[in-house]
Amino acid sequence: MKIIETLSEMQAHSRADGKGCVLVPTMGALHRGHLELIRVARERAGSGGEVAVSIFVNPLQFEPGADLEKYPRPRQQDEEACRAAGVTVLFRPTANEMYFADRSVFVEETKLSNGLCGASRPGHFRGVCTVVTKLFNLLQPDAAVFGEKDYQQLAIVRRLVRDLNFAIEIIAVPTVRDADGLALSSRNQYLSTSERTEATVLFRTLQRSKEHVQHGETSPEKLVSLARQMTAETKGARVEYISIVDGATLEPVKQVRANAVMLLAVFIGKTRLIDNLRLA
Ligand code: PAJ
Repeated sequence: MKIIETLSEMQAHSRADGKGCVLVPTMGALHRGHLELIRVARERAGSGGEVAVSIFVNPLQFEPGADLEKYPRPRQQDEEACRAAGVTVLFRPTANEMYFADRSVFVEETKLSNGLCGASRPGHFRGVCTVVTKLFNLLQPDAAVFGEKDYQQLAIVRRLVRDLNFAIEIIAVPTVRDADGLALSSRNQYLSTSERTEATVLFRTLQRSKEHVQHGETSPEKLVSLARQMTAETKGARVEYISIVDGATLEPVKQVRANAVMLLAVFIGKTRLIDNLRLA
């Protein structure tokens, strides 16, 4: 596994190589969710094909006062996990390498980014789009793998690729969960033991909502109201949003049909968690 920490070396490698790669962009603190993305990338690249993982805690997508400093950075452990998973290139730049102090060009998606997580995290998706664009330019991948766990991010990346004509296939991977349903996330590390128990409310709420749909409920208002009641029973949980949207456009739906997805963001204590589930 080649470890690259500078942009010039990364560009030289992509140019010299010329055979393309499958890229898995991450912020590190790798868990089984990330490893599943890497497994899918390994499969897509084929034997002998290049699988690149980027690990970069992107300051541009953290709001002021958010968890940028305390975000976990287990360098050695991540490196070993990548090596064991068959990664061929680990790109691990520093923030100083990645951004000029006087940077003045950003990439912004202006429609799908406004609601849901974008509403409470201004600038977040601009940070994501900017760094993903830079990674695409630096690594020149044929394909890139993203998780459905970050559903809005995935939709925005697809739009970025479409609207800016990147010749990159976007591969989506279903959310990897713990045995009790909690979606794996690097931020789960922030949870205390009791909060970890409370955090199961996200998936339980999504599953219960899906059951209501299976029993014939099609009103988004009713489903969201029931979902809010359910989260209110968990004392440490505070809902930021619960929405039912069209899976492609992220527009609110008037009636729950095949393409409807429920998305939610819930604070468990001080930790903000997100999850989503296709309802029908
Ligand atoms: P990060 O949170 O590290 O996630 C990296 C990738 O792993 C994303 O595509 C995310 O959706 C996926 N992922 C995380 N948890 C998952 C789970 N439980 N199951 C399946 N996939 C999961 O998302 C980011 O980093 C950043 O915004 C990034 C795209 C790297 C840009 O900075």
